[in-house]
This record gives sequence, structure tokens and C-alpha cells, in this order.
Amino acid sequence: MKKIYLFAILLGSCFLLATNLPDDIGLHLLQSPGAEVEDFQEPDYGLGDGHIDSLIAFPDIKKGERTPFDLWRYGGKGKSSFMDPNLPMEWDEWLAYHQKQKPKLMADIREYMNARYDFSGEVYEGQFMSGGRKAIMKGPVVRLPRGIASFEALSALSPEEIKARDLFPFKPLAHPLASTAHMVFPDNWNEVHPEHVRIDVDHDYPDEYLPEFPPPMFLTTHREMGDVTKGKEITISNYYEIFNGLLTPEQMEGLKELLRTTPTTWFNQTPHRVTLAPSAGVSCFSCHVNGHTNGAFELGPDSRPHLARLRVGTPSMRGNYNLMQLSSKRSIRSMDHFAEIEEYFDGDPGMMQHIGPRAHQKSVSNRMGDFNAILDFPPAPKLGPMGKLIASKATDQELLGEQLFWGKAQCGTCHYGPAFVDDYMHDLKVERFYTGRPEGPIKTFPLRGIKDSPPYLHDDRLPTLDDTVEFFNLILELKLTAEEKDALVAFLMCL
Ligand code: HEC
Ligand code: HEC
Repeated sequence: MKKIYLFAILLGSCFLLATNLPDDIGLHLLQSPGAEVEDFQEPDYGLGDGHIDSLIAFPDIKKGERTPFDLWRYGGKGKSSFMDPNLPMEWDEWLAYHQKQKPKLMADIREYMNARYDFSGEVYEGQFMSGGRKAIMKGPVVRLPRGIASFEALSALSPEEIKARDLFPFKPLAHPLASTAHMVFPDNWNEVHPEHVRIDVDHDYPDEYLPEFPPPMFLTTHREMGDVTKGKEITISNYYEIFNGLLTPEQMEGLKELLRTTPTTWFNQTPHRVTLAPSAGVSCFSCHVNGHTNGAFELGPDSRPHLARLRVGTPSMRGNYNLMQLSSKRSIRSMDHFAEIEEYFDGDPGMMQHIGPRAHQKSVSNRMGDFNAILDFPPAPKLGPMGKLIASKATDQELLGEQLFWGKAQCGTCHYGPAFVDDYMHDLKVERFYTGRPEGPIKTFPLRGIKDSPPYLHDDRLPTLDDTVEFFNLILELKLTAEEKDALVAFLMCL
């Protein structure tokens, strides 16, 4: 009955509107079908014939169900990831389901990661991250494809041949449980914050290959202090004691907000969650610990609603004051705006009311932006004011690396300026080397302080700096020698 009533009102209002319009346009204006090309035929846009047909349609998967690790092979229009606030089953069943699935899933993740990477644990003797405690891991640890003896032999092949013979070792890395997805924290974080241990999945990287925890924090406003935290993780209970006398009231308020936990989809007090106990949620610094990163990962929110979205590792917030492109694909232009819209919390507006809304007022997100803007890069004692190595402080190998960076290796084309970043998005066209969905343009990341933030690339696929150099050597077809690649890594460690 109600429906008929509504329909009548709707029809009535259309009629009223239509009668106010010139006769010849009438009702059509209200719902014009739009233009359409007759006999539409798609050009291949250089992706190759049948490109879309070479991709697999995403299977019809429910929340919590396992998803393929080779997600790059999937594409096209998919089922929406938007959901209703109810789990696909009762909480008890959900818990039991994951208690059964998790051990096998984790065993398979370890096997997959070990097949892709040789996590040998080898370190660079005497080279540490900025806090001086955590060793820098030596690579490359990406495993070479069977039958290829060395990275030099691989880079002698053409992109077409590498693709045709399926030899590309740097394929994208997927969120290992993309159906539920959301934040996955590293083991060392979970040891200190057991409230963030998930019932369904753990991080896939060994702690040695992740950033130091807790990382030091440097402020643009207080360089004399060195690491302002003095080796502590900043929390809502200790921040005032650490920062009183160092910050303006605005910055202090912003810091507090960055530390305050708020509910998110999957970390909250409803049964729609992935933690054993109801959770107070997460804070910005749960991933961006001490304004840096602990290596937690998520899914890129931009290509929602598709389930086969890009995995994104947490970038550092250090030096954001120098960036106009925030987020690998969304190209958000200010930190205040970022704090306001941060979608990892409630990407789905329909879920917000259910889990507890997190709507920051503009004044609050501005203050978060204010604190964000004083987070500095770590000191780089070997660099002069022009961002060039000070010759008397650098080794011959580091100087060679610098020369290659600006010359033969072409890194400086996209990584220049005080933060070694051009602030553009680039399409590296990595899909020239494998059959799969193109990832499209991604923002260039700064290289200042880069030794502190493994694993590399937006989706963490490169565990070490050596792997990153091998990656660029291959995709930019640079043909660097083994000695030249080592020199580039030595230079990157100075930045
Ligand atoms: C999963 C844990 C996680 C939490 C919690 C989190 N972030 Fe992030 N943050 C990320 C990831 C992952 C990215 C990269 C997104 C991308 O590339 O699309 C990111 C990117 C950013 C960037 C852009 C950095 C850059 O180099 O492009 C800023 C700024 C930022 N986050 C601020 C915040 C703020 C403010 C909050 C709290 C409101 C927050 N983040 C909470 C994981 C997190
Ligand atoms: C055409 C522009 C371009 C050139 C040339 C280039 N890069 Fe990059 N670089 C990028 C982009 C874009 C990304 C991010 C790609 C992604 O995340 O998928 C990136 C990412 C990186 C990263 C990882 C950053 C992080 O935080 O994860 C490192 C390290 C790096 N580049 C080093 C180099 C080196 C060394 C060279 C030279 C051998 C080089 N790049 C050449 C554009 C470029």
C-alpha cells in the first residue's frame, strides 16, 4: 500500500515539474538516456589484443573466505566490496571458522612468501636504520625464476620475452585475505598491542625485514633534540610528558588526535570485527607509529568496490611537509584533508553508523595536519645543503652511486629536490613484464630516509633496497653491472 502511495507522489511531482517545462522537452529532460556510439568497438590502447580476456573475473567470495595470492591476474568489473553490518554468519561461527582457517592460511602464506623471497637474514655489517639499533637487510632476496642464473642474465632479456616465458620476479603482492582485508599489523607491534591480533590472519613479513620499532621521531622545530621520543613508542598515556615544552597547543592537540583510537570496520566493539575481544579501534599512529611506519598494510581504498584492489603498505609521515601528492593513487593534496577523509577507518559510509561514526571536525583535522607538518626526515649527515654527498665524508662506492643516480641509472629524473621526489604520479607500465591487470599511475615516493622504511613499493613487494635497484634496473632497462647496482644501494643508504 505504502509503495503505491509513494509511486503516486513521485509521478505527481514529475507531472508538476514537467508542466513547468516547455512542451517540446517535457518529461524527457528528467531522464535523458545520454549519447551512445553506434557499433562501439574498443581500440586495444596498446595493452595487446584480448588483454581483458586474459584476466580472470573475481570469484564470488564472501567475507572471510580465502582469496587468491596472485590477484594481479584478476580484473574487470567485480562484485561490490560494500557490505551490510552483519557478518555472513553468527559471531560464534565466525570465530570458529577463522580458528579453523587461520593455521592453514598462515602456513600457505609462509610457503608462498618463502617461494617468492629468500629471507636469509643477511645484514649489511655496520649499517643501521636511523635509530642506530636495527640492521639494514642485504638483498636481493627476491628469488630468481627457475633456469635463470643471475639478475644480469634476466635483465639481458626483453620485456616481451620475460612476459612470454613468465619470468618476472617482481609481480605485485596481494593482501593475503582480500575478502575481509583491512589492517594487518606486524608481529612486533602485536606483541606490545595484543588487542590488535587478528583472529583470521597475521602479517606475512618477518620482523627483520620491517622498519625498526619503535622508530625515532625528528621534528623540524627541534633538531637539537635528536630523537624526541628517546626510544619510546608515543602513546595516549605518555605523549604529554614527552612533548610538553616542545609543541604549540595546536600541535599538541593534533598529536593527541593522531594517537586517539577510533572504531573502524573490523576493529570495534560490535561483532563485525576481527579481534577476539571487542576493540577500542585503532589510531593513526597504530600504523604510522611515531609518525613513521611499522609496516602494517591495508588495501588501497581508491579502487573500491572491487575486491581485487591493490595492497598498500603504510608509508612514513616523515617529510610530508614537502609533498603535494599524498596516497599512492588518490593524489590527495593536503595533510589536513587526508586526516579528514582517512578511509581506512570507514571506507563504506553505510557502515559508519553501525560501528561508531568517526567524523572529525575541520578544526581537529587541521590540527592533525599541523603536527604532521613538523615531522622531519631523519638526519643525513653525509648530505650537504644542495642534497649532494659531501665528498670528504663519503666512500668511493657511495660517490659512484651518486654519479649513477643522476646519470646512467636515471633515478634523478623522478627522484630530485630536497626529498628526492618529483611529486608526480608515474605509470611505470610494469605490466609489460607479466600477464595481468595494469596497476596504472602511482605516486613517486621520496627517497630521503629511505633506508628506514622497508619493504618497498606501494604494495611491499620489494623487501630490500637491493631488490628495489634490481627492479628499476629491469623495468627501466638500464643494464647496470653488479658493481654499479651495489654502488647505488650504498648511495641510497646515505639519503
Ligand atoms: C593501516 C594502518 C593505517 C592507519 C591506521 C592510518 N594510515 Fe595513513 N596510510 C596507511 C597506508 C597503507 C597509506 C598508503 C595509502 C596509499 O598508498 O593509497 C597511508 C597514507 C597516509 C598518508 C599519505 C602519505 C604518503 O606518503 O602518500 C598520510 C598523510 C596518512 N596516511 C595519514 C594518516 C592519518 C592522519 C591517519 C589517521 C586519521 C592515518 N593515516 C591512519 C596506513 C594507515
Ligand atoms: C619514471 C620515474 C622514476 C624513475 C626513473 C625512478 N623511479 Fe623510483 N619510484 C618511482 C615511482 C612511481 C615509485 C613508486 C612505485 C610504486 O610504488 O609502485 C618509485 C619508488 C621507488 C622506491 C621505493 C620507495 C618506497 O618508499 O617504497 C625506491 C627505493 C626507488 N623508487 C628508487 C629508485 C632508484 C634507485 C631509481 C634509479 C635506478 C629510480 N627509483 C628511478 C618513479 C621513478
